Amino acid sequence: MRAVLFDRYGGPEVLYVGRVPRPEPAPGEVLVRVRAFSVNGGELAARAGDLRLLTGRKFPQRVGLDFTGEVAALGAGATGVAVGDRVWGVLGRTGFGSAADYVTVRAERLGRVPDGLDLVEAAALPVATTAITALRDKAGVRPGERLLVRGAAGGVGNAAVQLGKAYGAEVTALARAANLDFVRTLGAHHAIDHRSVSPAELGPFDVVLDTAGTDLRAFRRLRSPGGRMVTIAFDQTRLAASLGYIAASAVHGRGRVRFFSGNPKRALFDDLAREVAEGRLRPAVDTCFPLEETAAAHRALEAGGVRGKYVVRVD
Ligand SMILES: NC(=O)c1ccc[n+]([C@@H]2O[C@H](COP(=O)([O-])OP(=O)(O)OC[C@H]3O[C@@H](n4cnc5c(N)ncnc54)[C@H](OP(=O)(O)O)[C@@H]3O)[C@@H](O)[C@H]2O)c1
Repeated sequence: MRAVLFDRYGGPEVLYVGRVPRPEPAPGEVLVRVRAFSVNGGELAARAGDLRLLTGRKFPQRVGLDFTGEVAALGAGATGVAVGDRVWGVLGRTGFGSAADYVTVRAERLGRVPDGLDLVEAAALPVATTAITALRDKAGVRPGERLLVRGAAGGVGNAAVQLGKAYGAEVTALARAANLDFVRTLGAHHAIDHRSVSPAELGPFDVVLDTAGTDLRAFRRLRSPGGRMVTIAFDQTRLAASLGYIAASAVHGRGRVRFFSGNPKRALFDDLAREVAEGRLRPAVDTCFPLEETAAAHRALEAGGVRGKYVVRVD
């Protein structure tokens, strides 16, 4: 089968479409015929070699973290889905590799895509599980609360704006000037160019959701009394200081910076499907690339300014 591979760490140009054996589903796993996947920040870092302590020196390596597709086969004991079901999922901590014709994944790591949702468009949404976890489970955002979403036009941010509004919050979206209209169309009540204000000019907010990872200290100060802050990212250029700050903020109790690493399972994908079916969340696809142009999709995300997600279709 085809798979997007790279033989050395580097820029998007190291990516190529090669041939690898089609995987067989092990017990408890599902074989998925991939129809589309999206490009995520974490895999850009992996391809560049920034995570080499984790990703090692064995090549070729693979890309692709999330996927949509159809169930092609079930391993022994795999339950909850049937051959032919339209599904979406995230490989999670098990590694990369969904940029391919087929992927195997544990059955609990995927869910059914709602009827009527195109599988290519749907590939913008598996990462929205992170927005659900952040706003609903970590921040516990309530109707009428003031919510700030930083990185509001991005993959997680665009879903957070939509869901924040659906949860009844008053949403302030921080994005680059060219994307302010985009975040308004997602439902943001207020849209602010993040380059034209300093954090000190903002707030207060009952919930701060950060998807950029920098300036965490300044953004934590924007919380109202009793306010919560969640970040899904940290400053990769100041890794130790950034992680140290998140850990040290535990002394603030409820006012700490909450960080989590998403590991979505079936129940969360079912929640995602419900949000879509009820019209509270829709996919935002910036551009769709063919598999052969996965490098262009990486290049586009690296350039900044994304509106939603770059999706790659696997014809
Ligand atoms: N913890 C988890 O479970 C989890 C899950 C998913 C993703 N992540 C991480 O979360 C981060 C965001 O993911 P994503 O998929 O949403 O990425 P993305 O699609 O690239 O979006 C990132 C957004 O942040 C904005 N941004 C970047 N730097 C900024 C800054 N200094 N100030 C303000 N805005 C800034 C970008 O805006 P412009 O480009 O327009 O400037 C973009 O809209 C990545 O680091 C990713 O690895 C973590």
